Amino acid sequence: MELKMNTLTKEFQTLRAVNGISYTMHNGVYGLLGVNGAGKTTLMRMLCTLMKPDSGSITWNGVDIFKLDGEYRKLLGYLPQEFGFYPEFSVYDYLMYIASIKGLRPTTAKKRIETLLSQVGMSKARNKKMKKLSGGMKRRVGIAQAMLNDPKILILDEPTAGLDPNERIRFRNLISELSEDRMVLLSTHIVSDIEYIANEILLMKDGSLTLSGTAEEIIASIPEKIWNCTVFKSEISNYMKQYKISNIKTVADGAQLRVISLESPCEHAVLESATLEDAFLYYFGEKAEVNEYDAEI
Ligand SMILES: Nc1ncnc2c1ncn2[C@@H]1O[C@H](COP(=O)(O)OP(=O)(O)O)[C@@H](O)[C@H]1O
Ligand SMILES: [Mg+2]
Repeated sequence: MELKMNTLTKEFQTLRAVNGISYTMHNGVYGLLGVNGAGKTTLMRMLCTLMKPDSGSITWNGVDIFKLDGEYRKLLGYLPQEFGFYPEFSVYDYLMYIASIKGLRPTTAKKRIETLLSQVGMSKARNKKMKKLSGGMKRRVGIAQAMLNDPKILILDEPTAGLDPNERIRFRNLISELSEDRMVLLSTHIVSDIEYIANEILLMKDGSLTLSGTAEEIIASIPEKIWNCTVFKSEISNYMKQYKISNIKTVADGAQLRVISLESPCEHAVLESATLEDAFLYYFGEKAEVNEYDAEI
């Protein structure tokens, strides 16, 4: 099983939303991490054959996915970022409806839906109308509909959007469970969604793949160090101007700053081990504007 992107490019007028991406995926969980506008959705839509690349190609086991067409889509499950549903349908009827569109026989569909409802924790809510579901429940039904055809390739675009912290934990467990024997690609701009479940993380910025690897590899790639500095309140804005600050914790008459820097940025600075959050800030982060910080406090 191999899904391969070769120098994929997609432009919208003058904007290059996806810029020469090459990457190969096998079984396992892949986390596509990037800020809004990075090009994640555009990349995923191409991987789902919903959009043709301007140049480059995507192959499944060596064959172009646009040539495989329906044969490829049979292997595919997709949860779009904006996931449309039918408000008056019950959860069960909605899933039966999608199953029929996907060409599942009713007896197969019924069995499959039972399994999925239980996997996503929606068995009890099966008769609820779609419009009555919470954000988290809707996403779970969204994942169930993407899983109906038991896809080899599962593509989830921002599946954690709008989930509360408890739902996020449930979701991570669910993805780990579903990823057995398939390829899962999920996009997010939240580090903790994928830190522990993704086998590989892809950092996407301005249409390009900045870096990819395991969480450990990405953390190890930061060429600077992480320091803990205790500073006075009056010094905070100067540090914000000079350094990349990955965290601020206010303490009595001052703050503890988590500073990314080659050299020690303050007296008595304490070296800390880097995390994926630090890497995210290092690769994506702008030095915060002073006003932005002032506005926060
Ligand atoms: N259909 C479109 N027409 C024009 N511009 C688009 C279209 N879709 C996306 N874009 C632009 O392409 C860039 C990447 O968007 P997108 O792939 O949605 O990023 P992400 O999913 O990472 O937020 C953005 O600047 C966005 O405004
Ligand atoms: Mg998107």
